[in-house]
Amino acid sequence: MTGGAGFIGSHVSDAFLERGDEVLVVDDLSSGSRDQVPDGADLAQLDIAQGKELKRALAGFGPDFVCHLAAQSSVTVSVTEPERDFASNVRGTFNVVRAATESGARVAFASTGGALYGEEAPIPTPEAYVPKPLAPYGASKLAGEAFISTWERFHGIAHTVLRLGNVYGPRQNPHGEAGVVAIFSERLIRDQPLVLYGHGKPTRDYVHVRDIARAFVQVADTETAGTFNLGWGREVAVLELLELLQRAAGKQTEPQLKPLRPGELTRSAIDAAAAADTFGWRPEIELEAGLAETFRWYASKTAD
Ligand SMILES: NC(=O)c1ccc[n+]([C@@H]2O[C@H](COP(=O)([O-])OP(=O)(O)OC[C@H]3O[C@@H](n4cnc5c(N)ncnc54)[C@H](O)[C@@H]3O)[C@@H](O)[C@H]2O)c1
Repeated sequence: MTGGAGFIGSHVSDAFLERGDEVLVVDDLSSGSRDQVPDGADLAQLDIAQGKELKRALAGFGPDFVCHLAAQSSVTVSVTEPERDFASNVRGTFNVVRAATESGARVAFASTGGALYGEEAPIPTPEAYVPKPLAPYGASKLAGEAFISTWERFHGIAHTVLRLGNVYGPRQNPHGEAGVVAIFSERLIRDQPLVLYGHGKPTRDYVHVRDIARAFVQVADTETAGTFNLGWGREVAVLELLELLQRAAGKQTEPQLKPLRPGELTRSAIDAAAAADTFGWRPEIELEAGLAETFRWYASKTAD
């Protein structure tokens, strides 16, 4: 589990551990944290851009399946520090698919829906749409996908690319500039001011992290190969999202409205029909219930 100390990777680790698999987390703890590594998993603390160290760790563990989630995962950091984004997301992904393939393991790679397809994509966007990323993060994910898919064809091994919608749920870092559900929850709890970029209008396809974790398990179990969107196919405006969270919180705020930041999209929703047809995945956790659960998690954490 590369990135298993991060938000999504920690939930994907839980899903595999729950059914009795052994999990090795590979993470440099640059944005993840040691306490998010589940109890039953081992941790190899290393940078995936360092190919030799990664190869040694994988050879020592001997995985059947590699979930590749380690990444520089912020669009705005990719704009200010494109070299760092390139090192983790391009070189790192190249190292992961090479080391995994050499040890006979399949790879499921966490790519992105929104940031990849760009501003002119039809909504909901199908996988066949030719990506036109707006920021280095989308370009580095697209380059990572190219290595995964090429290694799949060249070596005849069932690697998979999963293009995730906007993932939310417990354990997302509320102190970054991405992850609006985490940021809004924390700010509502602390009665702090809240900013809506793009004047609250930008839309995203919000999908719960446990639905995403289940997709990785289903891919592992079905020998699925190829490229798949994972989302609801539905646009939700950020203002609407805030209203749902406020309902869960039982609080109202007056948000500040600001323009979009460089590299951010105005609209995004992705079509996941192929995931349903190929390996039977459909999102199940409805947004309102998922947001209420997530808000309660942040509230209980703040109370601790
Ligand atoms: N959160 C979302 O909405 C979303 C949407 C689409 C795709 N994704 C992708 O899903 C994956 C997980 O995202 P997340 O939201 O959990 O982010 P996260 O930042 O919480 O997790 C990323 C993890 O990777 C680790 N990491 C970063 N660079 C590394 C490196 N060079 N070597 C080893 N470990 C490294 C970090 O320490 C962290 O634990 C990422 O690949 C991200 O691009 C996320």
